[in-house]
Amino acid sequence: MTESPAQLHPPGPPDAPWWRDAVIYQVYPRSWADADGDGVGDLPGVTAHLEHLVDLGVDALWLSPFYRSPMVDAGYDVTDHRDVDPLFGTIDDADALIARAHDLHLKVVVDLVPNHTSREHPWFRAALEARPGSPERARYLFRDGRGPFGAQPPNNWRSVFWGPAWTKARSAVFDDDGNGATRLLHKAQWYLDLFDSGQPDLDWTNPEVRAEFDAILRFWLDRGVDGFRVDVAHGLVKREGLPDWDDRTRMAGVSDRPTRESPMWDQDGVHEIYRGWRATLEEYGRARPDGTPDPDSERILVAEAWVEPIERVALYVRPDEMHQAFNFHYLNAPWRAPDLKAAVGESLRGNDLVGAPTTWVLSNHDVVRHASRLGLPVDVPCPSGIGADDPQPDAELGLRRARAATTLMLALPGSAYLYQGEELGLPDHTALPDDVRQDPAFHRSGGRELGRDGCRIPMPWKGEAPAAGFNTTGETWLPQPACYAELAVDRQRGVEGSTLELYRTLLRVRRDRGLGRAGVAEVADTPPDVVAYDLQGIEGGGGEGPRTRVVLNLGEDPIRLPEGELLVTSGPLDAGRLPVDTAAWVALP
Ligand code: NOJ
Repeated sequence: MTESPAQLHPPGPPDAPWWRDAVIYQVYPRSWADADGDGVGDLPGVTAHLEHLVDLGVDALWLSPFYRSPMVDAGYDVTDHRDVDPLFGTIDDADALIARAHDLHLKVVVDLVPNHTSREHPWFRAALEARPGSPERARYLFRDGRGPFGAQPPNNWRSVFWGPAWTKARSAVFDDDGNGATRLLHKAQWYLDLFDSGQPDLDWTNPEVRAEFDAILRFWLDRGVDGFRVDVAHGLVKREGLPDWDDRTRMAGVSDRPTRESPMWDQDGVHEIYRGWRATLEEYGRARPDGTPDPDSERILVAEAWVEPIERVALYVRPDEMHQAFNFHYLNAPWRAPDLKAAVGESLRGNDLVGAPTTWVLSNHDVVRHASRLGLPVDVPCPSGIGADDPQPDAELGLRRARAATTLMLALPGSAYLYQGEELGLPDHTALPDDVRQDPAFHRSGGRELGRDGCRIPMPWKGEAPAAGFNTTGETWLPQPACYAELAVDRQRGVEGSTLELYRTLLRVRRDRGLGRAGVAEVADTPPDVVAYDLQGIEGGGGEGPRTRVVLNLGEDPIRLPEGELLVTSGPLDAGRLPVDTAAWVALP
């Protein structure tokens, strides 16, 4: 790599397992495809549309929760981890989905929600019935309240979704002392819920909780799933004594202090849990005929851990723990060249510390979609949701930048996560009426936080059909904005320059040129407002493969492209030059 001295990341390894460079597509089952027409997506709908993923060129899908749930938090409140909620279908539908995906050579990752259950979970119902100090209560974090009768919550923690992180389970109990006075038998008891009061936190110091989740892992591994995305992986263990914490509780922790300073996130005790899970998963790997392990059979754990700094994230992906952790640094980086370069460099460095692949993600069901986020002013922190009264994103600018951001992301080695509909350039719904909003964060905050409904809108498949082809009845659990019909799959398939065709090309070229396992070097002498990397692919045998340069222009004027064959651009060129907010891949001679 003669022109590129600043090596950021070495190439390889050539014979690595599938997950090291997999492109994984997040299906949010409520909103992908609705086979029974009730307005909520379901598993038969997913199965019926899996060819879309093959056509797109991804390697795997991750399904957000479809388990039995009262849906207080869209299924992240589980009552039965071993069954499918009737809203989404049956366990047979789950089996059929996994089988069909495997037939199509797609891996299947499911969501695991271990930090909390639903308050309707049989364990929690039993806990409410049981006395303080009972084994039933010991599966959760019940504590006596503060004050003489326990009328105050046990500590000052706030919930991620606003309001106190404690809910009173039972008032103080008194009885008659026989002399006409009352005697306090027991103070009021409260339970911890870091999210909604419908999501009581489990006590992970309890071996029964650990055994139960090991059994849940095995249940789904036996059904053939290829991995688990682990919800709130940084939250399972709380600091002993549950000390007060004055800051707001946010998933992303505290921006200017390491996350582990807070008593609810990133405690060292979580790692032992994941080492145990890794050992369980390894029992499920298959051997090749010659007796060596088959890397294609590896099952994976993916941490959702909003942890800072990057060195702490790396601890989750040490060789005997999880396989991947979501990397939110790139997603959070402001649209400025120095910030993007820092995010890319830090992400590669942090994961290289422990030999793990970096992951990349720009959108998911918890954040404003990047086609909308990048259409907002760069210096304004992105809100949790956008409403009709808020400044609206510049849709054209947002889409141009989103396509460029994806073009940079998919050039980079490691595993990339795509969120359903981003391949269509879908924006958020930014004018949802309040009365359709369902996110508990909206309701608990009294509307101060709009929440995440805007990024969870049902997917458009056919421009002319009812509900843009989400189903045949036209019912949708959240309304679709008018622009969704124009962005439907059938409006973009085969259309030159469409976002769908851009994604298909990026994924094909990424695979052909081995970018997922490439070495990365920063291109020397790049102007400060240009991001450019050279990617050195590797051949199957380990030899040097093709060289590719990715260039993203964040300056004010179009720039010259490097010498070589132009492979793909995120938008049209301007008289042969790369315009602002546009990225390109070039095959270097
Ligand atoms: C993270 C999930 O992605 C989010 O949707 C959910 O609300 C919280 N965890 C609580 O489970």
